[in-house]
Amino acid sequence: MPIKELKDIEVKDKTVVVRQDLNVPMKNGAISNDKRIRAAAPTIRDALARGAGVIVLSHLGRPAEGQYEEQFSLKPVAARLSELIGRPVPLVREIAQAAAAPGQCVMLENVRFFKGEKKNDPELAGKFAAMGDIYVMDAFGASHRAHASTEGAVRRARVACAGPLMAAELAAFARVLDNPERPIAAVIGGAKVSTKLALLENLLSGVDCLIVGGGIANTFLAAAGFKVGTSLCEPDLLAEAKKIMDKAHALGRDLPLPVDVVTATRLAPGQKAVTRDVAAVPASEMILDIGPKTVRLYEGLLAGAATVVWNGPVGAFETTPFGAGTRALARALAGSGAFVVVGGGDTVAAVEDYGLADSMGYISTGGGAALELLEGKLLPSVAALQEHA
Ligand code: 3PG
Repeated sequence: MPIKELKDIEVKDKTVVVRQDLNVPMKNGAISNDKRIRAAAPTIRDALARGAGVIVLSHLGRPAEGQYEEQFSLKPVAARLSELIGRPVPLVREIAQAAAAPGQCVMLENVRFFKGEKKNDPELAGKFAAMGDIYVMDAFGASHRAHASTEGAVRRARVACAGPLMAAELAAFARVLDNPERPIAAVIGGAKVSTKLALLENLLSGVDCLIVGGGIANTFLAAAGFKVGTSLCEPDLLAEAKKIMDKAHALGRDLPLPVDVVTATRLAPGQKAVTRDVAAVPASEMILDIGPKTVRLYEGLLAGAATVVWNGPVGAFETTPFGAGTRALARALAGSGAFVVVGGGDTVAAVEDYGLADSMGYISTGGGAALELLEGKLLPSVAALQEHA
């Protein structure tokens, strides 16, 4: 279903309220990765350039509602946004203080300081919606939350639309999920099958090849009868993993498993890493990465893909020396010519660390939201935007 977009709405001399997801990681009071602010800035710049006054809303972290807490203040975020858009971004605590004349940008403090945000209180949603003439939902990363400033305000606004970041995210995922150019492959890594079960089941019917990595692959290996030693593995999900493998087989999909792996006695920097055949993992060791033969196998499978979705690393990439598999896969995808959509905090961080972000088709700002889209769910804020349109 279509949704209205900001680019198609006249904003000159209007007050535009833009809900962004500026929920960035913080370390000792400083922003440790500003990707979400950089991704949001063009929306604000564009609205200001078109003669609007802009009020920015966002959440940060998970504070207790109804009170101000300095550690969750958007102060550093407003300062960074101000640098990026080249004009002041004053931060106000109260809804009534938020006013922006054409060309001005103001930020409201963390929406989660307001009681009723998470419960999607209709009164609070109505107040957010009434802060301006147009309510712009641009917070893709928070669009799976039916909160007052997301779904609630969209439903209550007189005019509501998607911002350009939201529209770009939805378009990138649509290219993967609705009628993708084939062959299409998915690389799904991460620690636990339990967090990605719905996603694996949903993707399996749509993709030609499903590569599982990380702890998820260990559970699949155990389900296939391999001994995985002390590896991260979910024994109570072996039957589910087996079901997925059987379904892949029945549908004629590729679901390759590692043929060799990198093991160590524990996960810590500088551990002695040993490459072993997947059938030779000792009881005292854990699988921490894929081995070189597996890398070549996966490279071969991905080389022919026209579309790829990648969510989750294939090894403990943050700890040296267990990052070679994830790095090799990132390189292979970057050079594949396929349209590659990368989602999930860890995966995006890895791709950015390797300097390969520009070679991917689309780098998503969504964590949980991207996962829910890949699970086949309709996100509440998207549903609200569709109904509004
Ligand atoms: C995220 O980081 O995934 C979004 O900002 C949503 O945050 P939340 O999980 O605290 O709702």
